[in-house]
Amino acid sequence: MDVFLSQCCKIIECPECRLISEGKITSKRPDNSPVVLELGCGTGIVGITASKMKLSDHIIITDYQDDIINIAKENLKFNNCDAIVGKLNWFDVENLIQCSSSHQNNPIFPLPFHSAHIILASDCIYSNAQALALPNVIDAFLDFNPDSCAHILLPLRPIYQKELALFEETMSERNFSSLSIQDLEYKNGQGADTVFRWYQFYRKRTNNYLKKIK
Ligand SMILES: C[S@@+](CC[C@H](N)C(=O)[O-])C[C@H]1O[C@@H](n2cnc3c(N)ncnc32)[C@H](O)[C@@H]1O
Repeated sequence: MDVFLSQCCKIIECPECRLISEGKITSKRPDNSPVVLELGCGTGIVGITASKMKLSDHIIITDYQDDIINIAKENLKFNNCDAIVGKLNWFDVENLIQCSSSHQNNPIFPLPFHSAHIILASDCIYSNAQALALPNVIDAFLDFNPDSCAHILLPLRPIYQKELALFEETMSERNFSSLSIQDLEYKNGQGADTVFRWYQFYRKRTNNYLKKIK
C-alpha cells in the first residue's frame, strides 16, 4: 500500500501505520463502521493509512495548527481519502466540556463527546502539559462501549521518560487500563533502532460506567 505525502515521510518511520497496515489495529464493532478519531495528525499519514486500509468510513483527523491542518488536507486529497480534517487543540477540551450543557452534546467540535470507537495518536508527547492534556481528550471523546480503544504509540526517548510516566499515571487516574503495553522496535530513517511503546487503553468498567451508559 502506498501513501503519498507532500512532505517526505516513509511508512517505516511511522510505526502506527505499520500496526494498521499489518491489521494489528482493528475494530471489534460488529457493524464494522467505527468512528475513528486521530489526535495530533501532523502530515495525516496515520489517518490516511487507516482510510486506505479501510479501518472505517468515518475517520476524523485532527491537529491544532492551521498550517499543519492544511498540509494534512493536501495529503488527504493527494491520496483520494474522504476522511474529515478537524481542528482540535487538546488544551481547549476542558473548556469545550465546561461550555457544553451536557456531555452528550459538543457544540463546537463536529464529533460529539464519547462517540469515538477508536482513537489514534502517534508520537505526540513532548511536555508535561501534553502528558496531562492528552488523557483529557481521550476521556472526552472515547465511547463508553468496552470495545472502544485508544491506540497510543509513543517513542521511548530517554529525554521524555518523565513525560511518559506522567501520561501513564494520568491515564490510570482517569480510570483507563492498558490491557496491553508492548514495546516495539522499528528502524528510523537513518537505519537506527527506535523503540515505541504501543498502549491500548480501555475504560475500566466501574459503577460510573454503568451510570453513564444508561
Ligand atoms: C511529532 S508530530 C506527530 C505527527 C503524527 N502523529 C505522526 O506520527 O506522524 C506531533 C503532532 O502533535 C500535534 N500537537 C501537539 N500539541 C497539540 C495540541 N495541544 N493539540 C493538538 N495537536 C497537538 C502537533 O501539531 C504535531 O502535528
